[in-house]
Amino acid sequence: MPITVKPLDAPLGAEISGLDARNITPEDSKMIFDAFLKYHVLVLHDQHLSDAELVEFGKCFGTIEKSRIVSKLSGRDDIMVISNIREDGKPLGQLPDGEMSFHFDRIHQAKPCRGAALLALEIPKEGGDTLFSNMVLAYETLPEATKAKIAGRTALNTFTYGSTAPDQKAEAGPQCEHPVARTIPETGKKSLYVCRLMTEQINGLDGQESRKLIDELCDHAENPKFIYAHKWKVGDIIVWDNRCTQHARTDFSETERRLMKRVTIGDDRPPIQ
Ligand code: OGA
Ligand code: MN
Repeated sequence: MPITVKPLDAPLGAEISGLDARNITPEDSKMIFDAFLKYHVLVLHDQHLSDAELVEFGKCFGTIEKSRIVSKLSGRDDIMVISNIREDGKPLGQLPDGEMSFHFDRIHQAKPCRGAALLALEIPKEGGDTLFSNMVLAYETLPEATKAKIAGRTALNTFTYGSTAPDQKAEAGPQCEHPVARTIPETGKKSLYVCRLMTEQINGLDGQESRKLIDELCDHAENPKFIYAHKWKVGDIIVWDNRCTQHARTDFSETERRLMKRVTIGDDRPPIQ
């Protein structure tokens, strides 16, 4: 079956069909990496991969970063288990419950991850959708005055382990400063690089002005006109470019199981202005 790349009816993303993610040739790998750069989000259906096969698939997009926590549901340090499945009341996976605000994964690192591939194994009947926002489009559609205001600026991004909403920031975790708009090296495109969950401060502005600008940029980037909302089916894999998309999750019932496995794709350089 020929491999096809079909843009989604959305402001970003493409569906890849005719490809078995367990069995990828070097040519396929190059083709899907090019699609990743062009569409920012790739959707594959009906994929049934072991943990080892998911890790191999992730290597099409770069090197694999380790998970902070090894889950009993995988036993591997290169698989991040995202799940609300519990044992003795304790979640066996990370990011277990409910809604999550928009964020970039690992933006608190000096070299935040380039992307991730997420495989759905068990999903609730309703909710638990993942939303992706096109931050290249968000940047390009900013008013010129706002582009001028953020040009050359950096922002401080903080991660609080396990937090899923900005108001849960009890104690600050690791932090890193990055450009407010970053250039994606392969495409030369600029992408807005602030998010609701983790961006704390835009440097060089006073507290109030910074807060107002962060809110304004986040409100803009979270406009539905930049968003693809994915309703998961078991066997779906989504790969996202974490440099130029941010993502969020909708709420779902705690009475239903959700099990996802993720490989995290590292980057070889820090974000550039
Ligand atoms: C992630 C994440 C969202 C989801 O894997 O980084 O934010 O839908 N997951 O579980
Ligand atoms: Mn995430």
